Amino acid sequence: MKDTEKSPQQILIVDDEAVVRNGISRALMSKGMIPQSAASGKAALACLRNQSFDLVLLDIRMPDMDGITLLKQIHARYPETRVIMITGYPSIDSAVHCTKLGASDYLVKPFNLDDLEAALKKASVAPAQPKRSAACGNGLKIDSTEKLIVGQSRPMKKIFEKILKVAPTDSTVLITGESGTGKELVAQAIHANSHRRDNEFVAVDCSSLVESLLESELFGHVKGSFTGAHQTKHGFFELANHGTFFFDEVANLSLKIQAKLLRVIQEREFMKVGDQKKINLDIRIISASNSELSESIQKGSFREDLYYRLSVVPIHLPPLRERVEDIPLLIGHFLDKLSRKMKKPVPEVSPDAMDVMREYAWPGNVRELEHTMERILILEDTDVIRVRNLPSFITRRQRELQMFSEEPVTLEELENRYIRFVLKKTKGKKTEAANVLGINRKTLAAKIKKYGIH
Ligand SMILES: Nc1ncnc2c1ncn2[C@@H]1O[C@H](COP(=O)(O)OP(=O)(O)OP(=O)(O)O)[C@@H](O)[C@H]1O
Ligand SMILES: [Mg+2]
Repeated sequence: MKDTEKSPQQILIVDDEAVVRNGISRALMSKGMIPQSAASGKAALACLRNQSFDLVLLDIRMPDMDGITLLKQIHARYPETRVIMITGYPSIDSAVHCTKLGASDYLVKPFNLDDLEAALKKASVAPAQPKRSAACGNGLKIDSTEKLIVGQSRPMKKIFEKILKVAPTDSTVLITGESGTGKELVAQAIHANSHRRDNEFVAVDCSSLVESLLESELFGHVKGSFTGAHQTKHGFFELANHGTFFFDEVANLSLKIQAKLLRVIQEREFMKVGDQKKINLDIRIISASNSELSESIQKGSFREDLYYRLSVVPIHLPPLRERVEDIPLLIGHFLDKLSRKMKKPVPEVSPDAMDVMREYAWPGNVRELEHTMERILILEDTDVIRVRNLPSFITRRQRELQMFSEEPVTLEELENRYIRFVLKKTKGKKTEAANVLGINRKTLAAKIKKYGIH
């Protein structure tokens, strides 16, 4: 192929027939590509977990898992991977169906090299899938381990780019976002991508420290500087020297410590408690807060000058409910990671269950999602996670939504239906129904009469 720049390079061939796999493989190799192949849906998923592929050539009929099911999973978990379906039993219906599900093209067996090349060309320029950003794909590696920040939503891609831009500098970074949105993970990513990566990343949660000890915890102390200081102690600042200092829940710092901190940041040196010797400080400060610091500034509990020092580069992590596109990717990520840890096969997620989880608001954000996956893996022994395997607090909201999923009606009609529903639930017991509805028996009786309920 001449247009090698645009041609997909990492190709996976999935077909249960060895003849077909080998045929396509040879054809691609004659064009200078080295494809991999898998003989079943399961094997294909294993390959996809280990490596990223630009393109999958996927047979529709396979004994263990049909190509359509696999296509859906690839689309949900690896949205950047393009898929060309191949089949020996063509039909317009299934061609249209596959395209709707995100396939780039549809090839009918037997096909020749020209057909294949044309499909590859088409797939490599097809805009159907989100484009790989220059900086990274669906994730950002934190270190050599499996730790990864994943995300494919627009705000997360912007955040990845920002992390990579700010990491090599020494600017202070203030990370804001609700609890569980990944603030600490972002701080680690900045550290891991900076020239300080071989030195310490010291995280201190300002809310968990005892005020009276905070100063000595941060700056250290010399022996005998106060009652109980039996030994000289290195503070967090000294431990973090030449590395990165992560101040978590920074809004909880007392005004007294804020003043000291400001001085340390300005002067780039500090002293241990009870000591006169100045220590040079070379640290990168990253802080995080899950509350609005501007409110604390207005209330007078946070110094404005310190705020400006700490927030040279602000990074805001939106709550998970505002980046729903990340939910399937995170689910796949945690299922992979946790199953491997528990030495269990990775379960699939049924499309219905995926929809329910996309609609759930995740008040505890990514942490809640991670814990939910762990809980399902431990409690539900299943190959496919279906709606019935989800915890009830997730499906409850789904049931509530269903109540409103029909044609909209007037409030009066809704009241009529709802009263009937509650009466049915309470088996016609009026006192109980009135309690549930939060109205008195008389009012209920009047409404029953009004709506002619028997
Ligand atoms: N984008 C992501 N990709 C992968 N894992 C994530 C992502 N975001 C968060 N996590 C995981 O979710 C959990 C919570 O993240 P983290 O501790 O960074 O949140 P936080 O914002 O600091 O929360 P808190 O405000 O409660 O301290 C961690 O286990 C983290 O690894
Ligand atoms: Mg945190």
